[in-house]
Amino acid sequence: MNVNGTPFRTIWLKPGNDHVVQVIDQTKLPHAFEVNDLVSVEDVCNAIRDMTVRGAGLIGASAAYGMYLACLHTHATDFQHDLICAGTALKATRPTAANLAWAVHRMLLAIDTGRTYAERCSIALREATAIADEDADHCLRIGAHALPIISAIASRKQGQVVNILTHCNAGWLAFVDVGSATAPIYAAHSAGIPLHVWVDETRPRNQGASLTAWELAQQGVPHTLIADNAGGHLMQHGLVDMVITGADRITRNGDVANKIGTYLKALAAHDNQVPMYVALPSSTFDFALRGGVANIPIEERGSAEVRFVTGQTQQGTIETVRICPQTTPARNWGFDVTPARLITQLICERGLCDATEAGILSLFPEQRESGAAGG
Ligand code: MRU
Repeated sequence: MNVNGTPFRTIWLKPGNDHVVQVIDQTKLPHAFEVNDLVSVEDVCNAIRDMTVRGAGLIGASAAYGMYLACLHTHATDFQHDLICAGTALKATRPTAANLAWAVHRMLLAIDTGRTYAERCSIALREATAIADEDADHCLRIGAHALPIISAIASRKQGQVVNILTHCNAGWLAFVDVGSATAPIYAAHSAGIPLHVWVDETRPRNQGASLTAWELAQQGVPHTLIADNAGGHLMQHGLVDMVITGADRITRNGDVANKIGTYLKALAAHDNQVPMYVALPSSTFDFALRGGVANIPIEERGSAEVRFVTGQTQQGTIETVRICPQTTPARNWGFDVTPARLITQLICERGLCDATEAGILSLFPEQRESGAAGG
């Protein structure tokens, strides 16, 4: 998508040096647009852990390039052992997004088919590039599948603006390009449908305020930032036509882990008969799990993210300030699980389906025989 009119992805190889991976430093947005070089698997682990890169799709693509960088720096004799260690280190960076383990697993399988060291390195590069390209392509397809839903709402509203609420950032910054929750928005905007997006600020890290608001502005999509707690009020007053969120992991029965607060939006949407869609590529499915509340690992992050906020002062400096008494304890869960029954439909690259095991398996019949843990 565009940054000041120039197309960017969120991750790419440095032009002229394919031993360096470059990423947008998302910890600096929206105040500065900076690009970081990653040259080793340790760099990639750190970038995922400190959220220089974040969002399920981009975490997966970053891990894929991390495995490629690990290949480059591995001694031919210890290749297998070193790569397994690299994969284990990457998987330990963040626990909730399914795309991370999925990408590491896919890279290990692909690299294993190479016979020589050189062949394995070139397979790793090819596979990481394929994962990144597919991520972007799947998001585009999500947009195409969702466009008729938004068109139908627009027709019903006879040309009035369609209001869409989204939570956190499942935008192009959370993927390689386009985004999952934003793909329908960008598709409808390009098709000339008048729309407006309510952007939840998404405490504690404010990915809505700092990332979604920034990327929608860059693409010229009308939007308004709202406090996290405003969504229910807007729905009660008919100001939300649909909710679209992304997902960090989804079980085979359709329970969705997404940024903390998504569950409350889903409850409010259900109470107000507002359709609640979850947009996600297939790499976010965890077909081995059933029963998300009990079984999806939920990341708990440091309490400082709740106790402090960071922003730009009127003088233009970036500062972090405490918003509670000095001794107040805090807890910080990164995600919650929205039960499938609260979700109107899922939007995947293969099409739309109900958030049920039968619905999901109708799109992914090859997963019928895969086992599932949990009840
Ligand atoms: O903690 P993050 O920023 O990596 O969380 C991811 C998210 O932004 C959301 O949960 C998003 O809706 C799903 S990621 C495609």
